[in-house]
Amino acid sequence: MAYKCIGIMSGTSLDGVDVALVDVSVDGDRIHFLHGISSPFSDSLRGSLMDLTRNETVNKEELVRMDALMGHLLSDVVEQLLAESGMAAKDILLIASHGQTIGHYPEKREQFGHSTAFTLQIGDGDILATRIGIPVVSDFRRRDMAIGGEGAPLIPLLDTFLFQSREKNRCSLNIGGIANITVLPADGSTATAFDTGPGNCLSDLVIERLIGQSLRFDPGGENARRGKVHDEILTRAMEDAYFQQLPPKSTGREYFDEKFLDFLLGMGRDIPFVDMVATVSCLTPKSIADALHRFVPVNHFPTELIVSGGGVQNLFFMEKLRAFLPEMNVVSSGEYGIDPDFKEAMGFALMGYRTMKGLPSSIPAVTGAGSGQILGKVSLTKEAFRFFQENGGNENPD
Ligand SMILES: Nc1ncnc2c1ncn2[C@@H]1O[C@H](COP(=O)(O)OP(=O)(O)O)[C@@H](O)[C@H]1O
Ligand SMILES: [Mg+2]
Repeated sequence: MAYKCIGIMSGTSLDGVDVALVDVSVDGDRIHFLHGISSPFSDSLRGSLMDLTRNETVNKEELVRMDALMGHLLSDVVEQLLAESGMAAKDILLIASHGQTIGHYPEKREQFGHSTAFTLQIGDGDILATRIGIPVVSDFRRRDMAIGGEGAPLIPLLDTFLFQSREKNRCSLNIGGIANITVLPADGSTATAFDTGPGNCLSDLVIERLIGQSLRFDPGGENARRGKVHDEILTRAMEDAYFQQLPPKSTGREYFDEKFLDFLLGMGRDIPFVDMVATVSCLTPKSIADALHRFVPVNHFPTELIVSGGGVQNLFFMEKLRAFLPEMNVVSSGEYGIDPDFKEAMGFALMGYRTMKGLPSSIPAVTGAGSGQILGKVSLTKEAFRFFQENGGNENPD
């Protein structure tokens, strides 16, 4: 027995939105991919979102408007997915939508006598529920943060279901804007997971800055592959406080941002620009390998690295990962039948289902919160409300 659910993910790369139609097992512990759409953001939409995520001061009306607009844009992509897969709204149990992160600040700050962490994902779930006519679960990160967690990463539960093996220690790596790992011990103990640092974000920025405005990323990593990595700059970059911090930890593009890029570029003013592209890009595989060596206990050290996210397509990243981690077999999640572009969207579909079942999806050891939480906010539909009106409070519904 399985239910059809839709998961929506748009990550910090601001490249677009990935939507996956999946079957989720009735117990909420197995998932099967059926169909997916990746819808790229237009240059102007990307520009508006970029301004909201990187500027210290933002236009208030723009922020509020984009929350509603993203609700509509996500609805458009879901409509396209339903049409392509020949499904009607009544065939789908629920939509789970991560939303577009505008800011993620897991470090607590003290103000007005309260110490709190904070995060904001936009893309109004009520608009999705109203337009599509399917209940929506959205805003997955806040419940965990409300009890002191990092609110991230949340995908480790899916990684556990998909990849944990009794035969060997494995590690799942997602290279989105930020890179994160989930270590899956063969002895069956709980996964550990955290953000290792930059994924594609610095590589995308350096390409835009040094190669040209029309390129959003380094295709296949070809520019980085032409350059020579400057070890001294790389070593100094690796001294950054985030790489020293003990897990659990999470980060965002507001940390590995243009200022961080300026700092890196400032150290290499007189080196050829392709060398700078290679050096900046190399921080991604270097910090991933370093985090594994530094923070994973020897008895859990993985022999296999299963990579997902857009970064799989950057051959420079994959080659450097293999060079820095010669003891590990580095493969795409595609080798396990999981399309690297849709793993995270699948994860949110799974979590949305679990929320409606009243099951927790966060792993306390991963987010640092005190207990696993039932995540997200629910936007019901007219039909779902009617069901509760007709059946609610009736002690003998049969
Ligand atoms: N053909 C490619 N070659 C190199 N990098 C790519 C390619 N396609 C996508 N990417 C990278 O993947 C990123 C998008 O990855 P994604 O997993 O969607 O990240 P996010 O979850 O942050 O949105 C792009 O910004 C780009 O850096
Ligand atoms: Mg993306």
